[in-house]
Order: sequence, then structure tokens, then C-alpha cells
Amino acid sequence: MHIGHIDGQTQLVGIMGYPVAHSLSPEMHNAAFAELGMNWRYVPLLVPPERLAEALRGVLALGFRGVNVTVPHKVTCIPHLDSVTEAVTIAGAVNTIRIDASKGRLEGLNTDMSGFLTDLAVNHVSVNEESRVVILGAGGAARSIGAGLARSGAHITFVNRTVERGVQIADFLRSSWEGCKVEAVGLEQLAEVSHDATLIINATSVGMFPYIDASPWRDDVPFPKDAVLYDTIYRPLQTKLMRDAERSGLRVIGGLGMLIYQGAAAFELWTGKKPPIELMRQVCLRRLSES
Ligand code: ATR
Repeated sequence: MHIGHIDGQTQLVGIMGYPVAHSLSPEMHNAAFAELGMNWRYVPLLVPPERLAEALRGVLALGFRGVNVTVPHKVTCIPHLDSVTEAVTIAGAVNTIRIDASKGRLEGLNTDMSGFLTDLAVNHVSVNEESRVVILGAGGAARSIGAGLARSGAHITFVNRTVERGVQIADFLRSSWEGCKVEAVGLEQLAEVSHDATLIINATSVGMFPYIDASPWRDDVPFPKDAVLYDTIYRPLQTKLMRDAERSGLRVIGGLGMLIYQGAAAFELWTGKKPPIELMRQVCLRRLSES
């Protein structure tokens, strides 16, 4: 493999996760750096949970310009940071850290939320007071997405296997934006709450590689007509849920765009430059169609 020229000026960014080997981000960002002729490199950093605090001080000491954080560090990194943005407070999670080496500061940001909203906009999906959004799931991804959409005025329903987790998110969002229309139900109420949905979002991990024959949608519930189905999963590129929904006439969108736009936002935050989005998409598509 060609490593390219690394010298005393090379700037470093990376991703902390556990595991991290499957991440597409190193390839996506390094291709963008190469395309723009930037002397930057993005490296995978395998960090076990008990060494996270040490690792964060480490990247600061080593002069890294920033890092992404992924599972299982998105929430647990927050107490170790010097500041967080409003998006982090609302989503309760960080996926991007910007490092100000001169001041010795770590700033936590959330580009998952903005990445999702950018991808919706790019796909011309508008969400407004008329929209009825069903979010499947109540984990970190569901919370970021719900928070991102709450201010649109849409009616949002979280549908989750464990109903209390959805109720907690709904309560939190209501306390953050008075008047926002959010509720949470269990999977047994899917038919009731989804019959007039305009946008359905899968924010569960059901259907993700290697369990590609699973779907979070109940077999006995018809898909609402004219809805858009957005699956945040990108491995596989087409999930069972996407296939089933498409067969029922829905417009379907997979999670690749969200991955790319969260990466693009992080790239811009670190470097101040706009990355080559199409190249990043091609790099990810190539990797995902190989696996
Ligand atoms: P993330 O932070 O990536 O969203 P998470 O917090 O583990 O991950 O959340 C995963 C989501 O997928 C949850 O909503 C989870 O439902 P529970 O809250 O009931 O655990 C959902 N999920 C995972 N496996 C599931 C399954 N087999 N059936 C239904 N929902 C499932």
C-alpha cells in the first residue's frame, strides 16, 4: 500500500472506537486529503473504554488536530471534554472532537445530527408542521435524529421495543422545546402510529451486517402509502427494510449519505476546507460493495 509522503508538517486526525477496524472513515478522509493535496492523515485508534480518558489527553499531547469518536465512546467521552456545543447537549452524544493545541482544549461536537439533516435536504425531503415522522428505535442514533427534527414542527413518534427508552427521549425533547409534538410507544402500536406517517426512519441496529435478513418493521403492519423510508444503516447498502418498503411503493434512502455528510462536516470543522463529497461517496461505495 502506498503511504505517501509523511514529514514534520503532517497533521493528524483519527477515530477512537472499540472496535475500530471496520470503520470507513480513515479511507474516506485520507482520500479527501490526497485529492486536495493536504499533508494530513487520518488514523484508526483502538481505544478500550477504560483507557479513553488517557487516550484523549494523549491525542492532545501529541498535537492531533481532532478525532472522531464512535461506539462505545460517544457518550462517555463528554465529561473529559473542555466544552461541548448545543447540538451535543441536545443529542447527548459527541462524534467529533476539535482540538485546540495552543489552548490545550478539547471541544465536543455532533455532526451525526447535522449529517442526517444535510442528507435529508440533499434528497429533497422536507420536514415541516404537516409531517408525521416515525422513528424506529430509542438509542443514541434515534435521539440525535429526533433532536434534529424536533424544531421543524413535525409530529414525531418514537417506536421502540423498550418503550421507556422512547418515553425518556420524548420527555427530554419536550422539556427542551416547549410545544414540540413528540410521543413514544411500543412496537405493538406500530400500525396505529404509522398509518399516516410521511417519513419513517430506522434508527435501530436491526438489519445491520451480519444480520441482514432482519427488519425492525413488523410483518403484519402495512407500510403507509406515499411515505419516505430512511434507513440509517449503510452496511448493507440495501437493507431488508429498504427492499420491503420499496416493494410497497415507498421512496427509500439508505444511510450512506448520513455517513458521508457527518464525515464532511467533521473534515470542514478540522481543516476549514470543503471536502470532495463525491469522491468520499465513491470510496465508501467501493468498500461497501466489496464486503
Ligand atoms: P445506538 O446508540 O447506535 O442507537 P443503541 O443505544 O444500542 O445504539 O440502540 C439500538 C436501538 O436498536 C435501540 O432502540 C434498540 O431497542 P431497545 O431500546 O429495546 O434495546 C434497538 N434494537 C436493537 N436490537 C433490536 C431488536 N432485535 N429488536 C428490536 N429493536 C432492537
